[in-house]
Amino acid sequence: MKSFLSILFTILIMKAGAQSKVNYDESKVEPYTLPELLRSAGGQEIKTVKEWESIRRTEIVRLFEEEVYGKIPAEAQLKPTIEILEKEGEAFHGKAVRQQIALDFERNGQSLRVHLLVYLPAGQDNPPVFVGYNFYGNASITEDENILLSPSWVPNKKEFGITENQITDGARGQRAHRWPVEKIIDAGFGLAAIYYGDVDPDRDDFSDGIHPLFYEEGQTKPGPSEWGAISAWAWGASRALDYLKSEPATANSKYILFGHSRLGKTSLWGGALDKRWDLVIANNSGCGGVAISRRKIGETVEAINTSFPHWFADRFKKYNDQENKMPVDQHMLVALIAPRPVYISSAVEDRWADPVGEYLGAYYASPAYQLYGLETPASDQQPSVSKPIHTSIGYHLRPGGHDVTDYDWEQFIAFSRKHLKP
Ligand code: GCU
Repeated sequence: MKSFLSILFTILIMKAGAQSKVNYDESKVEPYTLPELLRSAGGQEIKTVKEWESIRRTEIVRLFEEEVYGKIPAEAQLKPTIEILEKEGEAFHGKAVRQQIALDFERNGQSLRVHLLVYLPAGQDNPPVFVGYNFYGNASITEDENILLSPSWVPNKKEFGITENQITDGARGQRAHRWPVEKIIDAGFGLAAIYYGDVDPDRDDFSDGIHPLFYEEGQTKPGPSEWGAISAWAWGASRALDYLKSEPATANSKYILFGHSRLGKTSLWGGALDKRWDLVIANNSGCGGVAISRRKIGETVEAINTSFPHWFADRFKKYNDQENKMPVDQHMLVALIAPRPVYISSAVEDRWADPVGEYLGAYYASPAYQLYGLETPASDQQPSVSKPIHTSIGYHLRPGGHDVTDYDWEQFIAFSRKHLKP
């Protein structure tokens, strides 16, 4: 029998081997050809908005559904029962009103509860609202002690006092540095927060979260081109949006879908699928987000499918180390958001996410925006650090690592102000 130590060594050596294969060297990027954005599968050149919307856009959505993220079942436009858990809590010294809502979904004898936390600037009707998922529960995003804890599964994190896959009081405020809620309120925006594990716990297990509500008799996981976790989270964001649209205080708001990292991948896909999102922001979204997959810098398709086999449709695995065979690349995902403004942000030290590839993913979406006569980034050269671009496709590169900082939020707010003029 192998000793524990020898198994540990084998694992460490395998890990080192896998990591040594990671390429961060620009000069080693092999030449690649991106699938053409403005040419249909049948070879037709797309010259007008009408052709884009009726032919090519539809084709691209289908390709991302079938080959990458997985298709959301048509019946999933499920209406939840709404329970108002808190109607008008006073927050931030009276500057904001806090609401907490539970959306209860039921189907096939199964149920799912999703908690929404909403802060709106006091006395301001229909403010623009940022809608964003968080990683450790709504209570993690601020020090506000009145936020209810979600009972959903969460990965253990000792530093937050999470040891039994259950959110505890220790998680309160732990991610406050990523969510400057008071500044968002002071800027005249609302914020709606959701815990992504409420919609689908982030583990390779399809017996929990939203998926089982749509299984046929005997089914235990989605089919090969059906929804993975990213599609499920995109779906959940749209259900939050349904709620905001049904509430007088936010029915006529503008809605900004924001996400960081895996949740940035989610905001791009969610924004592509649901045109009611007025603006989309993807921070450090990397592989499977905005970064061009064919570059294979940092995280690759194979790496992401190996570490996170549940994020995408099973079909996506056939592109492991076969990026050139993909009928899409990530610039096409951004293009699906046109003509709505989209903002992409990178961080210099976030090399795993391939900051240059993130810029190129944004830049190569430009032809779709240009069909609508919109202004797009002028050059394929990544802008310098802290030199943001606020054209319809916006972008910045900031110093530092994989995170969301105050600087990022200053840009998100300025960009949203510019493009969502009341
Ligand atoms: C991992 C993963 C990335 C992802 C990130 C995150 O690093 O490889 O694809 O973006 O987690 O969500 O923080």
